[in-house]
Amino acid sequence: MKIKNGYSVRWTMEQYAIKGGNPLVGEVEIGGAKNAALGVLAAAIMTDDMTVIENLPDVRDINVLLQAMESIGVIVYRSERHTVRINASMISGLVIEDDYIKKIRASYYLLGALLGKYKHAEVALPGGCNIGSRKIDLHIKGFKALGAEVKIEHGLIIADAKYLKGAHIYLDTVSVGATINIMLAAVLADGKTVIENAAKEPHVVDVANFLNSLGANVKGAGTDVIRISGVKKLHGSEYSIIPDQIEAGTFMFAAAITKGDVTVKNVIPKHLESTTAKLIEMGCQVEESDDAVRVVASKRLMSTHVKTLPYPGFPTDMQPQIAVSLALGKGTSIVTESIFDNRFKYVDELAKMGSNIKVEGNTAIIEGVERFTSANLTAPDLRAGAALVLACLTAEGFSTVEDIKYIERGYEDFDVKLQKLGAQIAKVDSDKEFQKFKLKVG
Ligand code: UD1
Repeated sequence: MKIKNGYSVRWTMEQYAIKGGNPLVGEVEIGGAKNAALGVLAAAIMTDDMTVIENLPDVRDINVLLQAMESIGVIVYRSERHTVRINASMISGLVIEDDYIKKIRASYYLLGALLGKYKHAEVALPGGCNIGSRKIDLHIKGFKALGAEVKIEHGLIIADAKYLKGAHIYLDTVSVGATINIMLAAVLADGKTVIENAAKEPHVVDVANFLNSLGANVKGAGTDVIRISGVKKLHGSEYSIIPDQIEAGTFMFAAAITKGDVTVKNVIPKHLESTTAKLIEMGCQVEESDDAVRVVASKRLMSTHVKTLPYPGFPTDMQPQIAVSLALGKGTSIVTESIFDNRFKYVDELAKMGSNIKVEGNTAIIEGVERFTSANLTAPDLRAGAALVLACLTAEGFSTVEDIKYIERGYEDFDVKLQKLGAQIAKVDSDKEFQKFKLKVG
């Protein structure tokens, strides 16, 4: 389905065809952070002035959010592929329930943004990747603390308030979504809000910086206590989204797993520290410069142990990528997933390539194998899908990865960027195209 700005929100039936075996070599340019952009776009509707958002990734989750914004009267003008102008002065409805929005997680940010601005919002319950139970109780706890009534009816979360008043909110679990959502709802509330045990992820900081560029008063983002002094009104601004640390990390592991040499450009190396540390433990060389990291892997990866944690710990969104890489490493590795309770679904897919991984609860015990064999795989979710592509890049012969619609939620031109690094990968949507790809790459 195409919508009027020409960006696509359709779920494709395409798959990746991959012939593995080439080390990836060269440079890759990283786009804007999807998860930061989702929060920033929602925040942009809180002012009636024009905002200009740059470095916006052209990925499906973003396009779905833009479409949902348009459905309530927000004017969205994509002046360039990565730049969007937003004017939310003529919002005509506060109910968001289009079919696509139900598929993404970040729809919940529209709840915080609309509640903050109009004191009322009705948004379809969020979807997103099926990586475990993904509650929203903390979001609701925050809205209620600010004075809203919140109920769930007919698949919609309905939040309503006569007025919002600053409050002291303690988050029982560190939650990126709840931290950002409460920030959104609180910036126009009366008085002071304190969010304790806040998430410290770079995208939380990015949304706070954007809100401050609109005239909000948010302090402490990036620490575990965020203090917000409510302001009466927000104004327009021009803002550029930070680079995507997960896209960057994925390409760093692509270099590692293929024994390649890749310079990942347009990144903030500080945001990648936990990934860099693990790659070094696994025997890679990592060189950092101001806005790039180069990963060189010349020999078989070594085993290590890793536990996912909130930032600055190792990100859960990088867990499948490191696990797939360790599955080819020398020796036994243990990967512990401490954020989500169902994030090892890709292990069964990887087993088709000959991996040796045993999952017990939230732990994967990985016995490294020397090589993967080619196979036909299905992406179970966004990051796991990308990780399976990395696995296929190492396997001699032809592999396929189906359900790339998940990968397209969060990676812009994943196949094209990999091709530029020497990968033999193509998007195909029929057997005929797959055969053509086989003939082409030989
Ligand atoms: C965001 C990211 C996602 C990433 C995750 C953790 C977006 C759109 N998605 O997801 O890519 O994997 O952060 O870095 O930015 N929890 C509750 N109650 C709540 C909210 C969360 O118990 O109300 C729990 C969750 O079940 C989970 C943990 O908190 O166990 C962290 O979740 P959270 O940080 O909220 O993840 P998301 O915002 O959904």
